[in-house]
Amino acid sequence: MEAQRMAMRCADRSTRIRGLAVPCRKMWLAWMTLALLALLTTTRAGVPSLVTDEEGNLHIETPSVTEGTSRVVYINGVDVVAQNAALTTALESLRQHVATLGEPTFATAKLITASFTHPYALARGDMNNDGIMDILFTSLTFGQVGIAYNLGNGSFASSINVVTYALASPHAILVMDTNNDGFKDFLVADADGGSVVAYTNTNPSAGTFSSTVVADKLDAPVSLDELALNKDGFSDFVIATENKDAIYLVQGGSTWSGPSQVVSGTANSPSAFSVRSGDMNNDGYADLVVMRTSADEVALYTGSPTGTFYFSGVLPTLGADYPRAIELGDLDNDGDLDVVLVASISNSVVIMFNQLNGQFSGELVSNSVATPVALHLADLNGDGHLDILTTSFSSQQVVWFRNLGGGRFTNKLILGQGLSQPNSLVALDVDQDGDVDVVATGENANHVVWYENLRL
Ligand SMILES: *[C@@H]1O[C@H](CO)[C@@H](O)[C@H](O)[C@H]1NC(C)=O
Repeated sequence: MEAQRMAMRCADRSTRIRGLAVPCRKMWLAWMTLALLALLTTTRAGVPSLVTDEEGNLHIETPSVTEGTSRVVYINGVDVVAQNAALTTALESLRQHVATLGEPTFATAKLITASFTHPYALARGDMNNDGIMDILFTSLTFGQVGIAYNLGNGSFASSINVVTYALASPHAILVMDTNNDGFKDFLVADADGGSVVAYTNTNPSAGTFSSTVVADKLDAPVSLDELALNKDGFSDFVIATENKDAIYLVQGGSTWSGPSQVVSGTANSPSAFSVRSGDMNNDGYADLVVMRTSADEVALYTGSPTGTFYFSGVLPTLGADYPRAIELGDLDNDGDLDVVLVASISNSVVIMFNQLNGQFSGELVSNSVATPVALHLADLNGDGHLDILTTSFSSQQVVWFRNLGGGRFTNKLILGQGLSQPNSLVALDVDQDGDVDVVATGENANHVVWYENLRL
């Protein structure tokens, strides 16, 4: 009875399916086969399908046997699934790294060279045009200039003496493109030789330079700085001469013009030991800041379109005794250049904050650096604020003051120790890892070293 009723129901249903005049049991088999076939054709591994969801987003789906583990979607040849996975991994490792960042710390000194006698002045510049900054140094006592070509991985090609015993006492070195050929050249102020010599890069890959005396018979040229006096596309530069207390201007072009004296001394026993150029009043013209060591004075000379500089007063150095170095930079991020000074008898680090109305306000950062000599400004922790780097001659240290913003600084932080006669400093990303490292000379040790910033 029961089997008969089932057969009746099946027969009823079969009558509703047109064209299928098959017995009931066979009909179910056909249904199952059709459904399976349909399933196989839509979800077969490797065959992508385009699907639109309720919000109208287009999905490219490539189902696989093990759903979700071997999906590949190429767009214009780019495997976006793999790219996304790699990006996610990289972001996570970056996040973890950033979480560990605090104060930057520095590795102990690594040698750039120990075979250059009495390294004194330092400069940085991409001298072989490989996109990586190299290090230049002078030997004050042996009249030489060397270049350590930076390989960009923390190693340097053996330093080359590009100038050998040709100078009396190369006191300052300035890297700039003197002839507008796109290659970096350098200028050397030879204090005892009384000259400024330009070394023109004639073959960047070979490290060969040709020399031209740009200025001679000067009375102890000890400092150089680049400036752009006019808009002729050629760089100009200024020279400070210690014994005559004069600043000279040399203008670049197809030939050099000058030197012409643009500043003469104002104090009783003056000595222009450093000159720095920058637009101090934001009027578009280069001004000069002159440091007179034996007069304990820093003076401002305002520039003009004609290349004349006007004495505009002395800056508040807060009793700094025997200033050794000055640098210009926007220390409080207010859009103008401030002046930083280190003084080696008062052991002080002073900032003269520019108020842009012709006034400067002096602020003592520290009076506890024993005999500071070198000075450099750089952002060592990547927070957008310039930090102050200096060296302590008598403590044989490299020290720095971290800029906390708003014109405030940390106490003295020790960056490196045990460097005998640390006369100069420069900051650059030596190992190309994205943070700023520090290079210093130890004159007495015959060492040029770098301190790796361990932040990144
Ligand atoms: C840096 O690169 C040079 C040249 O490719 C290689 O000889 C040297 O071993 C590398 N140094 C380091 C520290 O990886």
